[in-house]
Amino acid sequence: MKFQLKSDSISKLSADIIILAVNKSNQLCSSLSLSKTLQDALNLIIKLDDLPKNTGSINIEHMHGEFKRTCFVRIQNQDSLDEEDLLKSAKNIFKKLKSIKCGTVVLPVNQFVNKKINEGTVANLFTKAAIDESYEVNSLKSDKKASKNNYQINFQANKLDSNAIKLGIKEGHAIAEGMNLTKDLGNLPPNICTPTYLANQAKKIAKDFKMKSTILSQKQIEKLKMGSFLSVAKGSRLEPKFIIIEHKKGKKSSKPVVLVGKGITFDSGGISLKPGAAMDEMKYDMCGAATVLGVMKTIGLLNLPLNVVGLIPACENMPDGLAVKPGDIVTSMSGQTIEILNTDAEGRLVLCDALTYAERYKPETVIDIATLTGACVIALGHHASAVFSKNDDLANDLLAAGNKSIDKAWRMPLWDEYQPLLNSNFADIANIGGRAAGSITAACFLSRFTKKYSWAHIDIAGTAWNSGANKGATGRPVSLLSQFLMHKSKK
Ligand code: BES
Ligand code: MN
Ligand code: ZN
Repeated sequence: MKFQLKSDSISKLSADIIILAVNKSNQLCSSLSLSKTLQDALNLIIKLDDLPKNTGSINIEHMHGEFKRTCFVRIQNQDSLDEEDLLKSAKNIFKKLKSIKCGTVVLPVNQFVNKKINEGTVANLFTKAAIDESYEVNSLKSDKKASKNNYQINFQANKLDSNAIKLGIKEGHAIAEGMNLTKDLGNLPPNICTPTYLANQAKKIAKDFKMKSTILSQKQIEKLKMGSFLSVAKGSRLEPKFIIIEHKKGKKSSKPVVLVGKGITFDSGGISLKPGAAMDEMKYDMCGAATVLGVMKTIGLLNLPLNVVGLIPACENMPDGLAVKPGDIVTSMSGQTIEILNTDAEGRLVLCDALTYAERYKPETVIDIATLTGACVIALGHHASAVFSKNDDLANDLLAAGNKSIDKAWRMPLWDEYQPLLNSNFADIANIGGRAAGSITAACFLSRFTKKYSWAHIDIAGTAWNSGANKGATGRPVSLLSQFLMHKSKK
């Protein structure tokens, strides 16, 4: 995929396809200086009433002349177009382009610009949509499909706007590449994407972007007294890994943002075994970890001037003769004892020790990302990730980043009233709080390990992957977190 800026007028360009936006009066959204051939063809299409009808819908028409086809997109009203509409339309366009053979695409930028959306945003959203939509599962089918979509997209605009457009392309590209890595890791089968595989990915990113990676072995994890994390790993034949990846491109004196990702490479539930239906989807229980690695790739590509640390406790949750049992009490790295009443509430058990480990960075902010609770899917469905934080500024920054990047999140309460649900008769805390408010009590559990810094938790159980016929990882919330960090780096 290639992205370029063309400042020639449209009548001087040629391509396999040109993208034209039409409004509700069946007119082009901005007055483009089209060649006579193109204008005549356009008039005919309008006369035949062949333009797409619904907002965001697409029609492709054959042409003669400089452009072999036109791709019309209905945007109704250019002035009231917002970023979300635009991203949806852009995704529709590239979905449609998948079905035809096209190498070069001309995209006049001005037709999507209004008071809210500048040239840079148009380039950013179209670049993101093009790469995101061209994603194909790196499948293990023996009959490999031919190569991926590979277009050259020429953004056409006046010279004046070139810097904003170039930056928009650069950021959109970096985010979409980060998302695609997250999708690839999520989609891999759990017999391949193991804790060691995730560790190797971290090493690779560190090498590619001059970061530092450190992989702690079981022995080293034992030395750190991460008794809670280790209790989850006990039921698996695979060695757990504690993965550390550090991007140190900020000022020496500036405190890091620490991202902690849940890295359960398969969640069978352990002795509290899950039912069989859709259990394969628990290979996605490492999507928090995959998000951390995706974001590291994005900030590596952008070389953001920030200090960011990624921490990933990675292991499987499996039943075994030696596996942790309901009723077992373990001691976390923080010293707090935990009564494990349900071995399927394992995410919080691996995260709590990583959150304690995060203290050593004296972080500015710690954000954990986890496919933590089925209850979160019941609460919010598949559209919004859940944000939990006692820090209003941090929560608001995350929600704003989600809105801006169209990777939406919604805030949930983290009030102390919920804490007693985690009381245990035998230990400092129980690992479950009952059926009510399941995603909140999970967040409350984590909050007990985050007293020393400003912290937010993002539950991505409903947003990290799609089920059904289009089963696959979404790459969320890489976009939200990248936007959050980009905004921080520009402050
Ligand atoms: N990884 C699951 C959460 C999950 C389930 C995410 C389904 C997406 C879809 C997590 O480890 C889990 O099993 N949580 C339990 C917690 C319960 C035992 C308190 C759950 O949500 O059922
Ligand atoms: Mn579980
Ligand atoms: Zn889990």
